[in-house]
Amino acid sequence: MNPTRLKKLIRPLVQKLHAYVPGEQPKIPGLIKLNTNENPYPPSPHVLKTVQAAVDGRLRLYPNPTAERLRAKLARLHRCTPDHLIIGNGSDELLALAVRTFTEPSPKSRVQYFTPSYSLYPVLADTHGAAKNPVPLNPDFSMPGLPGLKRGQVWDFNAALTLVTTPNAPGGRGYPTAELDKFCRAQQGVVVLDEAYVDFADENALKLALKHPHVLVSRTFSKAYSLCFQRVGYFVGHPDLIAALHKMRDSYNVNGLGQIAAEATLDDLKYYRANFRQILTTREQLSRQLTKLGFRVLPSQTNFILTRPPLFPAEQWLQKLRDRKILVRWFGAKEVRDYLRITIGTPAEAEALVRAVSAIAAEGG
Ligand SMILES: Cc1ncc(COP(=O)(O)O)c(C=O)c1O
Repeated sequence: MNPTRLKKLIRPLVQKLHAYVPGEQPKIPGLIKLNTNENPYPPSPHVLKTVQAAVDGRLRLYPNPTAERLRAKLARLHRCTPDHLIIGNGSDELLALAVRTFTEPSPKSRVQYFTPSYSLYPVLADTHGAAKNPVPLNPDFSMPGLPGLKRGQVWDFNAALTLVTTPNAPGGRGYPTAELDKFCRAQQGVVVLDEAYVDFADENALKLALKHPHVLVSRTFSKAYSLCFQRVGYFVGHPDLIAALHKMRDSYNVNGLGQIAAEATLDDLKYYRANFRQILTTREQLSRQLTKLGFRVLPSQTNFILTRPPLFPAEQWLQKLRDRKILVRWFGAKEVRDYLRITIGTPAEAEALVRAVSAIAAEGG
């Protein structure tokens, strides 16, 4: 088949689509990887042992289709029922399901989100053929139009789906639950509060998902619980919305080892809470050290910081750090192109970063 005919087999929407670009995962020996907000600490010994022990003849069987045991454990943790929970192949899968479940594939149906925030959201709207309403955050990354939310301002209160990253990425700012509550009450469509980083924050908004039937909270085992590799995330919300999402998912969407790893994680929360505390200590120390070196560091409620470097453009810093085997993240979008996003690593990694930054600054390039 010639290339033109082959191309015609692909839907026009897909032909025009720009795919999401995930952070790089290079395998460079000795690389300090601070670009994709992974946890610098491994899963707990109990989790590793449990997963290893599960690698046996069971691999030939399908896993539990609704991750029943994991939902039961999460229900106890969050004081709700398993009907309030759906587990996904990472929270990314559930965000995609939310777009497909709550919006029409039509320019009349809108997916609303902050900008800048998680750059997957517009891609999900585009893959589905829904319209987008990107709402610019204030220059300090606070929510626009608050207090005194008014119709006809930046927000579309009738958007079919609103995705709110809280705390936000890449800004790192957290939004107070009282502010989010007011915001959710104003929205007529479904609101997803994407709390991927919430374990590093001062407060969380889980109670809003149990209070407002149109609000879902999204969580993940990836960041705080060191399980990116296993791909496990979940939504909490009203059983009717959760049941609708279940209808749209694949039958066995969460792999068996992922379910086992997440269940074991919930048995060992003490280990993870100690890691959160260490990451927060490193975050505050690194922020102070970079500030002394002339960086403007935005306050963060997450396991990363957004920082505006001195002396050269941020993109040059990205390369100069990379030359020293330290990988951070730079985004080309205009609101953030002057910044670097740096994942909080171990204290040793943070020290290596500060040494590299000092050396680059001393060389003047
Ligand atoms: C705001 C936000 N939500 C969701 C995710 C996806 O997490 P998961 O690994 O659960 O798919 C990320 C990952 O970078 C994120 O930054």
